[in-house]
Amino acid sequence: MKNKIVFISGANSGIGKACAEKFAEKGAKLILCSRDIDKLIKVAESINKKYDTEILTYQLDVRDREKVATVIGELPKKWQKIDVLVNNAGGALGLEKFHDGNMDDWDEMIDSNVKGLLYLSRNIVPLMIRNKKGHVINIGSIAGVAAYPNGAVYCGVKAAVRLISDGLRMDTVDTPVRVTNVQPGLVETNFSVVRFHGDKERAKKVYRGLKALTAEDIADIVFFSASLPEHVQICELTVTPNSQASATVVHRKL
Ligand SMILES: NC(=O)c1ccc[n+]([C@@H]2O[C@H](COP(=O)([O-])OP(=O)(O)OC[C@H]3O[C@@H](n4cnc5c(N)ncnc54)[C@H](OP(=O)(O)O)[C@@H]3O)[C@@H](O)[C@H]2O)c1
Repeated sequence: MKNKIVFISGANSGIGKACAEKFAEKGAKLILCSRDIDKLIKVAESINKKYDTEILTYQLDVRDREKVATVIGELPKKWQKIDVLVNNAGGALGLEKFHDGNMDDWDEMIDSNVKGLLYLSRNIVPLMIRNKKGHVINIGSIAGVAAYPNGAVYCGVKAAVRLISDGLRMDTVDTPVRVTNVQPGLVETNFSVVRFHGDKERAKKVYRGLKALTAEDIADIVFFSASLPEHVQICELTVTPNSQASATVVHRKL
């Protein structure tokens, strides 16, 4: 991974931040983006202090199609040789019956998790094909494998991530580009606080009575997928805590 260029969206928190740490530890150069730039700069400074690697940071809302194109289009030449794109930005908003759902939450979920991933990939995959190397790693979810109650739209967007990953893998089969969809189960990050619009008590209950995965666990898997020999492609990888069997079957010691 030494001197490889890794682009990570949503890198100021949780899984994206842990991926940034992991790739930096292994000598990669990073391009990081998030909406909250102050938080992102703090993450970049802390990583730089530890690993002394080059990092570019961008305040970028992946839903902004034009800005995504501008940021990628205006990358300095040497930074355009992106080796790994980790499409991580996104998350869930709300957990209620479909007919009580908030349509602003739906728009944000669809736009961040799906359209944002599309915009970044559409701009970066052609660079990868031109450079004859590249790996797109999407952070899907176990929610994309099967629906769960009160999560119709989030499950729908992560199912879209799964099939978009499959389609992209087909369309790049005659190129060196690899496509991997990592589908985590319960990972304890800021995810649930965001999902419940800042309600930390409700968020804590999601992980009650079990040892959830950590963001670092997922970063290890993302890094593992990226560091395999170039002829090896992990298409899809679903990972859960030991006490989670599916999106709906979870054992809690209460
Ligand atoms: N935690 C879990 O249990 C779990 C399980 C399966 C899959 N996932 C997926 O893992 C990914 C990361 O989630 P996480 O658990 O690490 O949650 P998190 O701690 O809330 O991190 C989400 C990251 O995405 C960024 N982000 C969100 N919307 C964005 C947008 N429109 N443009 C740019 N950046 C955006 C956030 O930064 P800003 O808000 O500053 O932009 C933040 O850096 C998500 O795709 C999520 O769906 C999580």
